[in-house]
Amino acid sequence: MTLSIRAIDANRQNFAGEVSGVNIAQGVSAADAAAIEKAMDHYAVLVFHDQHLDDAQQYTFSQHFGPMEKATGDIAQAEQRRLSMDINDISNLDKDGKVLARDDRRRLFNLGNQLWHSDSSFKTTPSKYSLLSARTIPSAGGNTEFADMRAAWDALEPALQDECKPLICEHSQIFSRSTLGFTDFTEEEQIKYAPAPQRLVRRHTGSGRLSLYLASHAGAIQGWPVPEARAYLRDLNEHATQRKFVYAHVWRQDDLVMWDNRCTMHRARRYNHTQVRDMHRTTVADSAPTLQQMAA
Ligand code: OGA
Ligand code: MN
Repeated sequence: MTLSIRAIDANRQNFAGEVSGVNIAQGVSAADAAAIEKAMDHYAVLVFHDQHLDDAQQYTFSQHFGPMEKATGDIAQAEQRRLSMDINDISNLDKDGKVLARDDRRRLFNLGNQLWHSDSSFKTTPSKYSLLSARTIPSAGGNTEFADMRAAWDALEPALQDECKPLICEHSQIFSRSTLGFTDFTEEEQIKYAPAPQRLVRRHTGSGRLSLYLASHAGAIQGWPVPEARAYLRDLNEHATQRKFVYAHVWRQDDLVMWDNRCTMHRARRYNHTQVRDMHRTTVADSAPTLQQMAA
């Protein structure tokens, strides 16, 4: 099998590619992993169909791309966890494989995934890549949408670009969840989710291109009054998530989708909450806090 990659949408050659000629379960060569990383630098989102993976195979593949993150971002207690700390549980299931009740606190927290975000932007060193494997999908709905934040940057007015470049935002899951009315965080969670500072504009290492770095977690801009910062970030989010910048992924069973969190945002779409949706995510950490990375 030879690896080949093409743009999913012929009218959008720089965002969202489809990979064929690779069987991830069998392990990929260093050369194929390097070709995939190069394609990631270009497309930012890659789709692999028909990848029947278990967690160990998914993890092994993910390790080609850097150090791995632990799944510390959710609110499930250790004894409630269904999957190991190496895997983010992006499902609506409890430990016994039963669908969570509509008002289950874990489900309500996880609904935050329906807001545009970049994974782990609430951590000081955020994530580089996320890899999401569709183990069971609902009969309808539950798409994942991806927004191209380099294209969004390119389309900003130069004066606005100049204003954005030096800004540092504060990202916290407490803020993103509060916009959905989810506010009952324990004291321990409030400490765990203390805000992390992130540059608003980043230079993407692999492509050299500039990118907006936004997420629903961004609730403040350092040195700005909060309402002004939030209004400003809302405007930027509205700009960056116009349909022309968005690829909507319609899942097939056994798809693996990987994306570059440094230059994309994504969000889950609604589905029938009584049906099973079981997705497993591995997450590759970035190399350093964004404030230690090259300024825009
Ligand atoms: C994630 C995520 C969206 C989805 O895995 O990080 O936000 O559609 N997933 O499940
Ligand atoms: Mn996510």
